[in-house]
Amino acid sequence: MEFDLSGKTVVVTGGTRGIGRAIAESFADAGADVVPTSRSHDDVQDAADAMREYGVESLAVPTDVTDEAAVQRLFSDTADELGSVDVVVNNAGVNPDGALGPPEDVATDDFDFVTDVNLRGAFLCAKHAAEHLQDAGGSLVNVASVGGLVGLPRQHPYVGSKHGLVGLTKSMALDWAPDVRVNALAPGYVSTDLTEDLEENERLRESIERRTPLGRFAEPAEIGGPAVFLASDAAAYVTGEVLTVDGGWTAR
Ligand SMILES: NC(=O)c1ccc[n+]([C@@H]2O[C@H](COP(=O)([O-])OP(=O)(O)OC[C@H]3O[C@@H](n4cnc5c(N)ncnc54)[C@H](OP(=O)(O)O)[C@@H]3O)[C@@H](O)[C@H]2O)c1
Repeated sequence: MEFDLSGKTVVVTGGTRGIGRAIAESFADAGADVVPTSRSHDDVQDAADAMREYGVESLAVPTDVTDEAAVQRLFSDTADELGSVDVVVNNAGVNPDGALGPPEDVATDDFDFVTDVNLRGAFLCAKHAAEHLQDAGGSLVNVASVGGLVGLPRQHPYVGSKHGLVGLTKSMALDWAPDVRVNALAPGYVSTDLTEDLEENERLRESIERRTPLGRFAEPAEIGGPAVFLASDAAAYVTGEVLTVDGGWTAR
């Protein structure tokens, strides 16, 4: 019962595809009303319909997390329509090709773009969800990465943004205790659109699999359970924490 989230309302940014979609489905499966959002109107509508198939309520509010007015609207619409915002999962994230490479080759615009979505976007969502989360005595889950814990070559904007997100997790946990718990997930390699090129490159895929004790990429659904855990009463004494879900990758 500690994992039951019936009666709670959960907003998942980047909840239409990949890890975010799987997290949204895990929350719906745990009984929560879920608002899965992203920039694409069609994808948001489709994801909201998928949530309703679990017998819970949903709402389609397309939102770009870099657009502050849209972020504000996302949380006020959710609270107005579904009664509360109990959990926010800051999952929207990007790592485009232009942001890969040694620092001297990364265009400043690409650095700004990654930081804008992965770090500033997560901050905006936390800022504008704050009042609702405090009213609800809720919980914030930031989807960071193993790149928020260790360095990764050729991924400087991404690693910088994810280390920043881990920092926000800890500092927000201090400000919002004891009312709102704030935690992060640090997934390793997960099969999604974001890692498609990696997985298609046989040499890279094999080296990642060799380096991962569990010997494979995760499926997105394998990140859903840990997200539900962090948001649920089972984690009532957990805040400011980073839960690594990486098949043992950082254990080496
Ligand atoms: N895949 C991995 O191996 C891995 C590992 C560690 C951490 N992560 C993290 O997990 C999160 C999800 O990654 P993923 O692999 O599932 O990526 P993905 O398949 O590319 O999905 C990204 C999601 O974010 C949305 N999104 C992108 N920019 C957005 C914006 N500005 N505003 C709102 N939504 C936006 C996308 O929808 P639209 O493009 O339609 O807006 C999509 O729903 C990211 O934060 C990523 O850094 C992934």
